[in-house]
Amino acid sequence: MVTPLCKLALKYGTDKCPQLKHSYTPFYYQLLKDKRREIKKVLEMGIGFFPGMPEKKVFFDPGLKRTYHMGASLYMWRDFFPNAQIFGADDHPETLFEDNRIQTFLCDETKKEDIVELVKKTGTDIDLFIDDANHNSRKQIFLAKNLMPLLKKDVIYIIEDVYYPDNILNALSEYDCQISQFPPKLQEDRLIVVRHKR
Ligand SMILES: C[S@@+](CC[C@H](N)C(=O)[O-])C[C@H]1O[C@@H](n2cnc3c(N)ncnc32)[C@H](O)[C@@H]1O
Repeated sequence: MVTPLCKLALKYGTDKCPQLKHSYTPFYYQLLKDKRREIKKVLEMGIGFFPGMPEKKVFFDPGLKRTYHMGASLYMWRDFFPNAQIFGADDHPETLFEDNRIQTFLCDETKKEDIVELVKKTGTDIDLFIDDANHNSRKQIFLAKNLMPLLKKDVIYIIEDVYYPDNILNALSEYDCQISQFPPKLQEDRLIVVRHKR
């Protein structure tokens, strides 16, 4: 099913949609479609780094045969949530940019002090957080353990591209974790939604 979120993913070239690579946008559409107007703040870790990108903001990616807009998923979220401020964070300074309702910050997800500084800038009232940075499970766990306690109680926290789900479920047992495994196109085509326990 090609959802409105799939269309936005394709427009900007993020690989979150099945038409390019991952199976996430139909899932996100079902999860978030009734919250489009109420989501006010989105934060995504991992903006998108390609060698040579400082000169080119839009370029053809021969690997995925797509036109990639720098910050593709941030633009996708911005267009999907009409009332939201979109924040992006990355450890590569070349990825940083600003645009209408989009702000980005330098942050290494493996450094606690960077995570704390990031939240000072965005505020703790993030409605939706997406970890699309390194995808190493130890780093995914480190980020969740250090970021989740700083965010408001009803945040929807998503970890994408989960290679080792059991490691994450065990390490984050203080939270409610829901795993979504998509038909086996790719080993890591899997995400976990993390929520504070009620
Ligand atoms: C898969 S790309 C993000 C793609 C983007 N979210 C999209 O869908 O268009 C992963 C990004 O994570 C960043 N990254 C890798 N390690 C990181 C770390 N330790 N801290 C923060 N960002 C990191 C990379 O620089 C890269 O830009």
